[in-house]
Amino acid sequence: MILSQYFPNEFSEVLELTHSEGMYIGQAEVQVLGLTHAQVGAWLVEKWNLPQELVDTVSYHHTPRRLRGGNQMPSLIHLADFLCRHERIGDGGGECLPKLDPAALRAFGIHEEPRAALNRIFDYGPLLQAGMEKADAFTRMAGGEAESVETPVQESDGRVIPRVKRRGTTQGLRS
Ligand SMILES: [Fe+2]
Repeated sequence: MILSQYFPNEFSEVLELTHSEGMYIGQAEVQVLGLTHAQVGAWLVEKWNLPQELVDTVSYHHTPRRLRGGNQMPSLIHLADFLCRHERIGDGGGECLPKLDPAALRAFGIHEEPRAALNRIFDYGPLLQAGMEKADAFTRMAGGEAESVETPVQESDGRVIPRVKRRGTTQGLRS
């Protein structure tokens, strides 16, 4: 947001590089601006006098290996960012995936080779999908569309479908 607002031309150039060259956004930022959004964000968080843990989280969310100490938040953000970009959730600036820092996996006790770990994590895809659909159901319930959310049911084709109760009946969310 800061880069977009205060350096609109340079940030447009950054985004152009991510799209036209397939460049990773952090690399494009360094090429055009000489720094990354992690550095700008950390500077801002520090100026706002927020706790050092948050400054470190912003600073190291793409490079958790560089942070010493027990702060897991940069690793958590790093993994969330990687998974969202891998699954094309949201827009992180271009198609180029960030490199997964194995330190982020180790921070949560995952010591296997990153590709094997990721394959295992993506095996949870249907479960994650069900969780997201359940969250959607809660949102709809809050909006008055459903009475309650029940335990997800596994269909014969393996899909896990959360169910909601509407006016005395139980329905799959996708039915
Ligand atoms: Fe980032």
